[in-house]
Amino acid sequence: MSSVMGQTFTSSQQAMLNRLAHGVNRLGINLAVYDNRRECIFQAEGGRFTSDSGILRELAGEAFESPFTGIRSCGQDHRFLMSLLRQNGQPVAVVFLDKGLPSQTLDGRLREYCIRHGLDEHEFTALLTGETEEGGYPAHLLETFATEFEASVRHAGQIDKLTTELSQMYEQIVLLYNLSTHMKVTQTNAEFLQYACDQLRSLVNVEGLAVFLEKKIDGQKRLVLTAGCGYVSIDATLADIVQVHLMEDLAAGKEAFLDGGVHGPFQYAWPDNVKNILAVSLQGGENMIGIMVATNPLGKSDFDSTDIKLFNSVANGCAVFIENGRLFSDLKELFIGSLKALTGSIDAKDPYTRGHSERVAFVSRWIAEHLQQVCTLPANLVHHVYLAGLLHDIGKIGVAETVLRKRGKLDDQEREIIFAHPRVGAAILSEIPQMHSIIPGVLHHHERYDGKGYPQGLAGEDIPLLGRIIALADAFDAMTSKRVYRDAMGFKHAQTEIHKGIGTQFDPQIAEVFLDSDVDKLWCIIQDGFIENWDYSNFSEYGTQAVGVLIR
Ligand SMILES: [Fe+2]
Repeated sequence: MSSVMGQTFTSSQQAMLNRLAHGVNRLGINLAVYDNRRECIFQAEGGRFTSDSGILRELAGEAFESPFTGIRSCGQDHRFLMSLLRQNGQPVAVVFLDKGLPSQTLDGRLREYCIRHGLDEHEFTALLTGETEEGGYPAHLLETFATEFEASVRHAGQIDKLTTELSQMYEQIVLLYNLSTHMKVTQTNAEFLQYACDQLRSLVNVEGLAVFLEKKIDGQKRLVLTAGCGYVSIDATLADIVQVHLMEDLAAGKEAFLDGGVHGPFQYAWPDNVKNILAVSLQGGENMIGIMVATNPLGKSDFDSTDIKLFNSVANGCAVFIENGRLFSDLKELFIGSLKALTGSIDAKDPYTRGHSERVAFVSRWIAEHLQQVCTLPANLVHHVYLAGLLHDIGKIGVAETVLRKRGKLDDQEREIIFAHPRVGAAILSEIPQMHSIIPGVLHHHERYDGKGYPQGLAGEDIPLLGRIIALADAFDAMTSKRVYRDAMGFKHAQTEIHKGIGTQFDPQIAEVFLDSDVDKLWCIIQDGFIENWDYSNFSEYGTQAVGVLIR
């Protein structure tokens, strides 16, 4: 048996062909396969005679020119049986069984077998070797082979399709996983949506992709382009129109809005360069909070159901991120509101210290920002110093109003209570793990640079930086505010006092940075009542626990 390997068959089809060849060769029948270029791509001879390749090539040409189904017998004395093999409905090869002439296929052993078993020798050998009108046993073998071959092509096609779908599904799962791991509350909506667009476009090749979010502009809800990639010729006005069509289609039970001019006329009018358009919704509960629009798939003629599923999944991920961000923002506001209520209640114990905590926070941040310009400071210092400034007197929450408002000299017990407030404040905050970084500011805001302060009498740079900054801001506000025991010191006078306190009460570098800053501007901001300007930035590290403890 010999064979010529071709590229037409898979390994399993090649194995099927080998089995057929083995079966017919045993009956002395030759097998040959020709492709649509009339080339012999497989050949297996039974050993009794040689097939005429010229005739087979000619017959193959005729078969491809006039395709037929089933088995056909042809040639002199009907010596050939042939069948076309098809892939996806198209003939790709023709299989020949060459039975030869009767004298060439008769087998002595077969004759002996018939005589021994009382069989009609001629009829039996004719049936077995195919010398009948129907082609006998070889025709049956060839027909079975042709049927199995087509089934194997279908199976291979199904396996290919399944493999492609699985790999697409895997890529989609990776994309959705990447999106879920990128859901950090510190990211803005635009940052996250941009990431989602870039990831999606790396998977689905489209000319352009954009996300529009609903925003209130002049009291009107409008779609605003928030993220996108590629070239999108859909502007905010067209996006409004897309949204209307999308709403209609969703109400009609569809999963997306699709319009295209490739397979027929457009449903609606679009810019000239739009060939296909796909839009899906970003749903925030019952409301559509935005839309994702893609135009012109590249490498294929239209969007398909897989694209719709994927776009919807990504749009859902985006909507979840936006909703989470909104909830987080609500939580932040609750947190800030709680701090405001808390510090307000402390300051309210003494009418003369009204707004004190907010001013100290503001001035502390002012100092930290200026300090950052002249030396390297830990990340988050500005934010921590603001929060520490806000909460520095939280320990006064347990001090009786009579003590705080007392005009005369405090007795020893009262002094002890007042001196305890930094420790009490630190103890309160120690219950909140997220607040631990600001405790040094609260605990040490009454320390002095010369070591004569309280509660620990630390000196110089042993006093934590937060404590040294707040100490200055606290003193500045105390000097410039009216107190129960004295009138407010003038702003200029306060500057002189701070200058005098350099190296004794205050850290020299901090005091100098403060005095060198534009304190006139600072004073104007304070006078103008900055109090409502709460710092909303970077509260992301504090969670519900912080809010819960502070509200308690
Ligand atoms: Fe204090």
